[in-house]
Amino acid sequence: MEMLAEPHGALSGRARVPGDKSISHRALMLAALAVGESRIRGLLEGEDVLATARALRALGVALARDAQGVWTVHGVGTGGLAEPEEVLDLGNAGTAARLLLGILAGHGFTSFLTGDASLRRRPMGRVARPLREMGAQILCRSGERLPLAITGCARLLPVVWRSEVASAQVKSAILLAGLHAPGATTVIEPLPSRDHTERMLAGMGAEVRTETVPEGIAVTVKGEIELAPRSFTVPADPSSAFFPAVAAAVSPGSEVLLEEVCLNPTRTGAYAVLAEMGAEIAIEDRRESAGELVGTIRVRGRALEAVDVAPERAPSMIDEYPALFVAAAFARGTSRFRGLAELRVKESDRLASMAEGLAACGVRCRIEGEDLFVEGGRPAGGATIDARLDHRIAMSFLVLGGLAQAPVRVRGAETIATSFPGFAELMNRLGARIRPLPETDAGEPS
Ligand code: S3P
Repeated sequence: MEMLAEPHGALSGRARVPGDKSISHRALMLAALAVGESRIRGLLEGEDVLATARALRALGVALARDAQGVWTVHGVGTGGLAEPEEVLDLGNAGTAARLLLGILAGHGFTSFLTGDASLRRRPMGRVARPLREMGAQILCRSGERLPLAITGCARLLPVVWRSEVASAQVKSAILLAGLHAPGATTVIEPLPSRDHTERMLAGMGAEVRTETVPEGIAVTVKGEIELAPRSFTVPADPSSAFFPAVAAAVSPGSEVLLEEVCLNPTRTGAYAVLAEMGAEIAIEDRRESAGELVGTIRVRGRALEAVDVAPERAPSMIDEYPALFVAAAFARGTSRFRGLAELRVKESDRLASMAEGLAACGVRCRIEGEDLFVEGGRPAGGATIDARLDHRIAMSFLVLGGLAQAPVRVRGAETIATSFPGFAELMNRLGARIRPLPETDAGEPS
């Protein structure tokens, strides 16, 4: 499906973007491992999370959704999943694939996992290696990629694993496997990545400890425990909210309120950068909900200035770089974003996707090693961008199209439904002009 974003004026209004993707995947998976019934409100019903729900059903978990959108999960207890008859197809969802591998590692049966062309390109070795060390057998396609087969083991060995990358998916996979191991399983990562798994496990009665060590951050979980079921509301996704936030921040005169957003500090780094660039960002109605900080983000548009973002900040804004690059394209001066190697292994190679797409929209930018330089100005737009099976690439260029001099067309925009169903409608309610194009409407945007 193609979508067109036409230039708009100032944005205004309030909106609640859909539920957080990371928390939604974990809510379903951990509820499936609890003993008893969990009820989850505000679950993200995007394709990625629905892939997790489908996989859990195939593994013998009963999940139901009522007319109000409340999901009920009948947990089977750790180690209680059943061998799936079918191949587990996780679509575009890296979190689903990697976290499920951690869980399947602790089950003594064989499962086959695959995904779409994007997921089949992504590295699974970073998860397969520690899980093998713990006792699972994992056979991957060349380059440790999907499709793969995993035969787990009901009693895994606890490990102390040093991860080279700060990755919440790697950390979570190991911690989830650790639930099936006696004693303590520890993951050490160089920088803190999002900690939703730890918070949720603690809320379900697990013993989880996080400490600073010379190599970085160590997280330890005690295995072979029973998880208690939990009922809660999933907060709005700060990564999804960042798209309207950027659109508002770039247009002076805009004022947008984004409600009930998860404000976990491991997720909000990009909002701090946007504020450093000169946008006015205020947090209101701050409160705690089910172990996570939640609040309303008020964004007022201003003329933005370029920034220089250090590599250590990457984990706290890893999914927001594409939209941040769009903000930088409208700022005064040249921005530098350092240490972006991890962007190369996301739903697409986001460093290449963004550099090429920005250039097509008339933005001068260059990649130097692991850094991206973006020269700000008033981008021309007027390009057609391929989403490359990457929801955040699609949304970033639709945001850019609304702010540029000429409309931007995005091919393959259906990928947005993986994380942000209703994106165009929500943006349009705030004043954007995004619409699907009929299949026959070929040619360059006028
Ligand atoms: C996620 C972790 C991050 C992030 C992804 C979601 C998670 O990936 O990019 O969108 O839910 O754990 P990495 O663990 O690969 O950094």
